[in-house]
Amino acid sequence: MKRALGVCYYPEHWPEDIWAKDAAEMVAAGITWVRIGEFAWSRLEPAPGVFEFGWLDTAIETLGAAGLRVVLGTPSATPPHWMLDQFPDMLALDAHGQPRTFGSRRHYCHSHDGYRDAAAAMTARLGERYGRNAHVAAWQIDNEYGCHDTTLSYSNAARRAFCRWLSHHYQSVEMLNKSWGNVFWSMEYPRFDAVDLPNLTVTQANPSHEMAFRRFSSDQVVQWNAAQAAALRPHTDAPLIHNYMGRELNFDHFAVARDLDIASWDSYPIGFLSDRLEATPDHKAAYLQQGDPDMQAFHHDLYRAMNKGRWWVMEQQPGPVNWAPYNPAPLPGMVRLWSWEAFAHGAEVVSYFRWRQAPFAQEQMHAGLLRPDNQPAPGLDEARQVAKELAEMPVVSIAQAPVALIFDYASQMAWDVLPQGADFNYFRLMLEAYRALRRRGLSVDILPADVTDLTGYKMVLAPGLAVLPEALQNAIAEDTEVSLIGPRSNLITDELHIPVPMGPNLPWLDVTVTRVESIPPGHARAVPGGGALVHWVEALEGSAEVRVKTQDGATCLVANGSHYYLGGWPDVPLWDRLLTRLGTEAGLELVTLPEGLRLRDTATHRFAFNYGAAPVEWEGQSISPADFAYCPLRQISPATL
Ligand code: GAL
Repeated sequence: MKRALGVCYYPEHWPEDIWAKDAAEMVAAGITWVRIGEFAWSRLEPAPGVFEFGWLDTAIETLGAAGLRVVLGTPSATPPHWMLDQFPDMLALDAHGQPRTFGSRRHYCHSHDGYRDAAAAMTARLGERYGRNAHVAAWQIDNEYGCHDTTLSYSNAARRAFCRWLSHHYQSVEMLNKSWGNVFWSMEYPRFDAVDLPNLTVTQANPSHEMAFRRFSSDQVVQWNAAQAAALRPHTDAPLIHNYMGRELNFDHFAVARDLDIASWDSYPIGFLSDRLEATPDHKAAYLQQGDPDMQAFHHDLYRAMNKGRWWVMEQQPGPVNWAPYNPAPLPGMVRLWSWEAFAHGAEVVSYFRWRQAPFAQEQMHAGLLRPDNQPAPGLDEARQVAKELAEMPVVSIAQAPVALIFDYASQMAWDVLPQGADFNYFRLMLEAYRALRRRGLSVDILPADVTDLTGYKMVLAPGLAVLPEALQNAIAEDTEVSLIGPRSNLITDELHIPVPMGPNLPWLDVTVTRVESIPPGHARAVPGGGALVHWVEALEGSAEVRVKTQDGATCLVANGSHYYLGGWPDVPLWDRLLTRLGTEAGLELVTLPEGLRLRDTATHRFAFNYGAAPVEWEGQSISPADFAYCPLRQISPATL
């Protein structure tokens, strides 16, 4: 697969007479894709039914004539003000019942039929006009679903749609009452339309109610996206894409992906480290200008799983962002490193956000590849360098990784609803497992919970998986030698009830979790030999062979052969010990890496990315901070590993 660079561009922000020069400079920098249009509704339809496509025709023609391929965005993330005049009730309401008003973006509720139809109609109109345009080579639908906390809406439109969803899902209100356990606290409903949204209750709402609302809200995003995909399909054969945001987990991305052709995500490594990650102050200080060494790779591996391996980075941080609490500049070299890391994980395109820094409005402090005065910003040189390097090594082929990690959006929702401890966060657990795999040099495939075939994986991990589907259980039993289930896997039903018999109910292992505890920061249950359980501890019973006990004698790891259940949340040393043990049993090639170095194997090469602040020696080469190296796989000598 040939890899390419792109950039996000807003022709509507700049005078028309500089578009051609911008396009020529993009091409000169080695950029081949340009994404436009995703926020331009007020310029495309300044008043209801008054369309002004002339400028977009010219922009597409200008960019295309320069040799660029255009990704055209549908503008539904930014409905113009007149749309609100038409649909005053289209705004989302927050959990306190307050409207999320006009004046930024994503000011809409996915359940508002009128706005959904208007957005789909606009999309169809764009499809009619540009669907066969030779320069429009891909489409982006909407922008970053869920970002700014926009999946859950407590509007009247949402409530009406939720009642319809419930009646479809449960068929009778008796079934709903039974499925939710509404006999508790006399919560039984007489009719579907008596069910409120689960906000504004006096104390915690029923977890089943809350979970149903989460699933419903996720389905609304899926349908919203599907409506636009359906509006575009008759007009174009170009691939349809959405740009997901990092650690935005309130809807099922795998379900959205079914209506799309390519997954993409927006990668802001330094913003994420500051804004979206639990980490010690030391860790945040060590990676302040590089970003976390695993956060990007995790998302690359996740999005590779969505559309048969086809995925892009639609937006790549090119310099300081504006939206995190602190916004340091990337170390020189990081823009290039992030780009290559994405390619090594299989990205087809890495597209920088944005071409020129806008000197006005919300993102005026956000870097582009050009400064507001048109001079090159530091990111531009790095983009140029990547383009040159890509020309020298244009093919990166992806191979199946030896390890699979199961990732499931419903589990994130379940544990959000029922955390049982302030530190129990599904994503955090997954990222910690992933980090531990990567500290041992492993490449990882992330797979959805409905996977049915695990052939070729030497080791499979499913921590925190709320419900372990039967097909996945069979695949683990049949296709893989080594597995690790738990903590908190298969301990709950779809309705968030405790199953009886109690979980995890694994056919291959006689173990029951009879009690769970959450423990606050600063408390840990030590494990002899090093490491401890933190955040979460389970009491395990059953005849399965005990492999590890805590210092106080409680069982925390049991197994049958190399199929394990883990009854607690490991700290870093314990994850390292566990994965060394399991990895060795699986016959994996385990490496001990210097701090900040991460490896990634493609079909032909091993890449080594240095996120650390010190140079490291690897395969006879010295890799500077913010730099990377690669070697043909066959040249890697086992002795050095
Ligand atoms: C993304 C978004 C872009 C821009 C960018 C700034 O989340 O899709 O439109 O706002 O952040 O970092």
